[in-house]
Amino acid sequence: MKGLILSGGTGSRLRPLTYTSAKQLIPIANRPLLHYAVEALVQAGIQEIGMIVGETAAEVEGAMGDGSRFGCRLTYIPQSAPLGLAHAVATAEEFLGDDPFLMYLGDNLLKGGVTQIVADFEESDWDASVLLTPVAHPEQFGVAVVDGATIVRLVEKPREPPSNLALVGVYLFRPAIHDAIRTLEPSWRGEYEITDAIQTLLDRGRAVHAEMVQGWWKDTGRPEDVLDANRLILEELAPRSEGDVDADSEITGRVVVEAGARIVRSTIRGPAVIGAEAVVEDSYVGPFTSIGPRVRLTNTEIEMSVVLADAVLDSVPGRIDGSLIGRGARVARRRRSPRAYALVLGDHSQVEVL
Ligand code: DAU
Repeated sequence: MKGLILSGGTGSRLRPLTYTSAKQLIPIANRPLLHYAVEALVQAGIQEIGMIVGETAAEVEGAMGDGSRFGCRLTYIPQSAPLGLAHAVATAEEFLGDDPFLMYLGDNLLKGGVTQIVADFEESDWDASVLLTPVAHPEQFGVAVVDGATIVRLVEKPREPPSNLALVGVYLFRPAIHDAIRTLEPSWRGEYEITDAIQTLLDRGRAVHAEMVQGWWKDTGRPEDVLDANRLILEELAPRSEGDVDADSEITGRVVVEAGARIVRSTIRGPAVIGAEAVVEDSYVGPFTSIGPRVRLTNTEIEMSVVLADAVLDSVPGRIDGSLIGRGARVARRRRSPRAYALVLGDHSQVEVL
């Protein structure tokens, strides 16, 4: 069994963070999202993994390497343009050959991993198997109609959803899918949809199995999803401290302090993670917060937030809550007149002031 992780496309809904970075590399508990994806595949016994990459190829490759540290081999497969999930599979056809494969959308996070769905598929003769979960807004997803554990019909982002069961972005295929993809026409949104290719399998009388998500699943498309994914991962944090915590600081709950980080006269209430070489001084870091590497936090209170590498938060009045702060961003109290907000914001930034 081979793996195919999709890490191309554009991250328009996560702007401005994704103007300069791949959405699949957004850190969740200080680790790029794609690490969790690769680990899930390796855990299921998949060691040959193709990684579909687009404009952000260099950055993805830099963060993931050749796969050896995850116990797998990563092959980077450039996609000419993000023309759809089925187009990505067609792009990888040579890599996939005649092997069955698991396709995983790189911006997804699954607590239960993919081990069960892979094991069930390997024992079966199904041509495809998809992972489903009930959602509140099925019109934003591929939607399935099932009869027990068999898929009857699939439709991509329907205006009137025939059920509340969404495709979560984990698919298993036998090679029949390649021929189905060759017959596709672009959808109303101009993409070659994998949902339509699976419907073609059904139209040809092929068996498509449905499996339900165990645990939770998170699509990290929007900023609030990133905060939520961060919370879910931190809930299972195993505490450790490799940094320097002074005697005037108080650490409670499950907290990770990474190597070279310094905590000075501060309170950290877990679950929280303080990144390598970050400095937290005279500050409060509350539950469900990830502070990235080399961040400087001075005289500031923050909780339920994600702060990316190299950001600076200095003497911010009031508490920062539910915030996503990009790399190298600076939020500081103004120390000179006039007493006014002074903002330099990137396109599509969002700021809520008191
Ligand atoms: O999140 C689950 C949903 O993912 C499913 O319910 C839908 O059926 C499926 O079509 C997909 O919908 P999205 O519109 O959310 O897909 P998105 O464009 O966000 O792409 C998913 C991932 O695949 C993302 O990591 C980018 C990558 N990608 C996407 C396209 C279109 C590629 O690598 N190449 C592409 O051509």
